[in-house]
Amino acid sequence: MKAPAGIWLRRTEAADREPILGFIRQTELFRAGELSIAAELLDSAIAAGPAGHYQSFTAEVAGTPAGWTCLGPTPCTEGTFDLYWIVVAPACQRSGVGSALLRHAENLAAERGGRLMVVETSGRAAYAPSRRFYLRHGYREAARVPAFYAPTDDKLILLKPLQA
Ligand SMILES: CC(C)(COP(=O)(O)OP(=O)(O)OC[C@H]1O[C@@H](n2cnc3c(N)ncnc32)[C@H](O)[C@@H]1OP(=O)(O)O)[C@@H](O)C(=O)NCCC(=O)NCCS
Repeated sequence: MKAPAGIWLRRTEAADREPILGFIRQTELFRAGELSIAAELLDSAIAAGPAGHYQSFTAEVAGTPAGWTCLGPTPCTEGTFDLYWIVVAPACQRSGVGSALLRHAENLAAERGGRLMVVETSGRAAYAPSRRFYLRHGYREAARVPAFYAPTDDKLILLKPLQA
């Protein structure tokens, strides 16, 4: 799939599971419960493939998994998609891998009739780079749910209209 030089995007395969869970841990951002959810998303997406609910893509750099994204249509909506996960191995961050994955996710959603992409993220200081990443890609804050994840951890809902 088309991506900037040196980055190869493809559907996630079973062999990617452990490397992806490994770099999710390396980011030291996610809680244990979130890691279990990532494992469930991976298992479901790998088992069901392109026809399944979860659409999962791996970015490879130099032949090794370096990033992962997972998206799907939001149940009970018309044309809304959720970006469930996006992560890049710490050693490969800030070299365009996340942007390539995000563009690919948005294009796939648009091809499948998506008109709106939704991202939920944390208001914690540790997520400031992630928020900058989304803002840079045209996402705008639509709502903030105070103390959602924890007493001092708000949920931010970011939206981006998708091109038909
Ligand atoms: C957010 C994330 C997916 C971005 O992927 P990436 O490959 O690093 O991003 P890209 O190289 O494509 O884009 C970089 C842009 O994102 C923003 N950004 C990403 N990391 C940043 C950092 N550490 N500090 C500041 N800005 C950062 C900047 O706008 C940057 O542009 P610039 O380098 O020109 O300033 C990646 O940093 C990551 O995996 N973070 C940890 C997991 C995470 O937060 N996931 C999202 C949870 S909701």
